[in-house]
Amino acid sequence: MKESNRNQKTVACLGIGMGAFAIALTTLTSYVRAEGEATVDPGKALYEENCGVCHQLDGSGVPFMQPELYTSPRANGDKGGVIQMILKGSKAVEPGTSEFENEMPGFEYLTDEQIALIATYVRTNFENTGGEVTSEDVARERKRN
Ligand code: HEC
Repeated sequence: MKESNRNQKTVACLGIGMGAFAIALTTLTSYVRAEGEATVDPGKALYEENCGVCHQLDGSGVPFMQPELYTSPRANGDKGGVIQMILKGSKAVEPGTSEFENEMPGFEYLTDEQIALIATYVRTNFENTGGEVTSEDVARERKRN
């Protein structure tokens, strides 16, 4: 084979290789993007299902009925506060101190994982900066009851 011929072949092979790589990359990127769009934050979904009816989907609450969750003291304070609130509902609030007419039910029947996801969602949304809550945190708070 002539030297120039071999070089041409190499270039052609390289071209095909790069093409295949580009296609693979495009496929991968669109796959990842589709995955991202399809994934709903499970904490958000659980919040909307269990809490949204009272605290509203945007966390704005209803005056005198239930508090807004914006810059909520429990959502931003010690993790135990928000976990106990979700576990026990209004029973976690010292009797006679509530400013709200509605009663919050307890959600003890949810799993540690579900409560952790909801608590994390509340603590990292609605301008709250409380941060993440783990299932271990919830398990520890359950034992304190
Ligand atoms: C039936 C209505 C209702 C539902 C459902 C409900 N809440 Fe509440 N929530 C209340 C009321 C009322 C209060 C005020 C409690 C009190 O003062 O007695 C409250 C208080 C809170 C607080 C304390 C706010 C603060 O910092 O002082 C948090 C946090 C909270 N709820 C989160 C949740 C989450 C998370 C869920 C879903 C798992 C939920 N709530 C479901 C009615 C409700």
